[in-house]
Amino acid sequence: MTLCWLVLAACDSEDTGDTAGPDSADTADSGDGTVTDPLSMPATPTLDAGDFPTSDTCAECHPDHVAEWAVSTHAYAIVDPVFQALVGLRQGHADGREDRVCTQCHSAIGVRSGEIGPGFSFSALSPVVQEGVTCVACHTVTDVQRPYNSGHVLDPGAPMQGPIADAASTTAHLSAYSDLFDDAELCGGCHDVTEPTGLELERPYAEWLQSPSQAEGTPCQGCHMTSTRGPAATGGPERDRHDHRFVGLDNPTGDPELQARVEALLTDIAAVDLIVPASSPVGERLVVTADVHNLIDGHNLPTGSTFIRELWVELLVADDAGTIVYASGTLGVEGDLRGYWSPSDPYGDPDLVTFGSAFVDAWGEPTLFPWLASEHWSAAIPPQYHRAVSWMVPTDTLAEGTYTVSARLRLRPFPPFLLRALGQNAAADAQPIYDLASADAVVELR
Ligand code: HEC
Ligand code: HEC
Ligand code: HEC
Ligand code: HEC
Ligand code: HEC
Repeated sequence: MTLCWLVLAACDSEDTGDTAGPDSADTADSGDGTVTDPLSMPATPTLDAGDFPTSDTCAECHPDHVAEWAVSTHAYAIVDPVFQALVGLRQGHADGREDRVCTQCHSAIGVRSGEIGPGFSFSALSPVVQEGVTCVACHTVTDVQRPYNSGHVLDPGAPMQGPIADAASTTAHLSAYSDLFDDAELCGGCHDVTEPTGLELERPYAEWLQSPSQAEGTPCQGCHMTSTRGPAATGGPERDRHDHRFVGLDNPTGDPELQARVEALLTDIAAVDLIVPASSPVGERLVVTADVHNLIDGHNLPTGSTFIRELWVELLVADDAGTIVYASGTLGVEGDLRGYWSPSDPYGDPDLVTFGSAFVDAWGEPTLFPWLASEHWSAAIPPQYHRAVSWMVPTDTLAEGTYTVSARLRLRPFPPFLLRALGQNAAADAQPIYDLASADAVVELR
């Protein structure tokens, strides 16, 4: 079939470097090609990991915060097998010289204490470093010097930083109010990711800066750390306390409560309008248009690791007996989309419409690895914006009659082929697919 899809709205390759963000990364080369940065990847340690307590130290008085955080991706940031596999590939690629790059946010304590440096091994890391983005990776932040690439200042000697102005006293720690904790910039310090080459990888904070949420004064915390009334510490007064599961897309331990929150977060965040003519002549191409809306106020859909996530439209046309006469965005035998990276059917779905992002290397070839990439193009949909995409469905072999067109906008955290390539077969088989929106329409072919 020689079908093609057209892009009707402003959906052409979008350079990811066009809004707020660094002009180039602030990295230095210490002479032998080792990548360093005075703040987040120091060549010589600036901190001692032993000065940072682990989360079990907090559990006696903050048991709910600890239990929530423990199922979050923050707790998983270093032990995540996908992360470890990718870092391992980069270790091989750069012979250890870039070992601080991918780890600077996943464990700032590990990198700044020197536990993580050229040639490090994950199995040798101390418990607080294994805890990744642990309690004190946030609650000892006294300043954010730049809203990307682990731009935080960490001071383990400072009072515990937090959102409470009148914290009850405790023998465990001093407390200090910091307005950073109600501010998106705290999150931006790690959530906007730039390669040492200056190539921007992730930028939810930069997107948020230009979003309706920013205008309304809703920071990341407003959607990702919702508040309930309750004590902030055992026996303490009732306050607004904030959920520490950091609900997003991923649920590393399969925790049922986090899963329910993921599904709630993904509800009513997108819409699809199908535009189909009432009738169309047999033999001519049937033009089907889907107008896809991002209803999130805070950032693009998708955001963050858009080069890993899959967001796509499944489009089916069925005759009145229910037989599918045209399909795009369906899965091949391995469970992968039938696009460029499909193991067995890379050209099987030339009309495939996706809204993620992708890397291109210096030779113009697609690559999965940011360290090999020289370009990052994105088809993500900005907040409260929409993109229209069209399919030209051939009808020359179809009979006259009534046909149903249906579209689903589908989101999957990881493509199975990538997980299998990294040795994560069980995770590949267990990947959920979330249907964010759908629409149906009827067309008369005559
Ligand atoms: C500037 C901080 C920062 C740097 C540097 C960084 N990451 Fe991340 N990483 C993040 C954040 C924040 C997320 C969460 C984004 C999301 O889920 O969309 C993340 C998510 C991930 C995930 C997905 C985890 C999951 O289970 O969903 C993987 C894998 C990962 N990073 C690997 C890497 C690799 C490999 C590198 C080096 C190329 C790297 N990271 C560099 C901050 C960083
Ligand atoms: C012995 C009990 C105890 C232990 C152990 C403890 N805390 Fe606290 N913490 C408290 C109390 C009490 C408060 C004040 C609560 C209030 O006023 O509602 C508090 C407040 C806080 C605040 C809010 C500070 C502010 O001003 O906003 C943070 C953040 C915090 N603790 C983090 C931690 C972390 C992280 C650990 C472990 C490294 C920890 N705490 C260990 C008792 C404790
Ligand atoms: C010290 C660095 C750091 C800070 C600060 C930080 N994050 Fe993260 N965050 C990460 C990393 C790294 C990951 C990915 C962990 C993984 O899965 O490997 C992540 C993951 C997440 C996820 C899960 C995304 C998904 O795909 O499920 C959410 C949601 C999130 N962070 C929200 C926040 C919010 C809100 C703030 C600010 C209050 C914040 N983060 C501050 C480093 C950070
Ligand atoms: C108005 C609510 C809202 C605000 C504000 C908001 N988010 Fe989100 N965020 C969402 C929703 C809904 C999703 C799920 C859709 C998705 O994954 O893109 C999400 C997903 C994410 C993810 C997971 C993306 C992925 O697919 O891997 C990350 C990371 C994230 N947000 C970070 C942030 C950061 C950082 C900020 C602040 C700079 C922020 N968010 C502000 C609603 C919000
Ligand atoms: C990714 C950063 C991050 C991590 C990791 C983190 N917190 Fe927090 N914490 C926050 C933010 C941000 C707030 C305030 C949210 C707001 O006011 O909107 C907060 C608030 C708190 C408070 C004040 C009460 C409340 O809920 O508002 C306590 C106590 C606390 N955290 C303890 C902990 C403990 C204990 C851990 C580890 C188990 C932890 N935090 C891990 C960012 C973090």
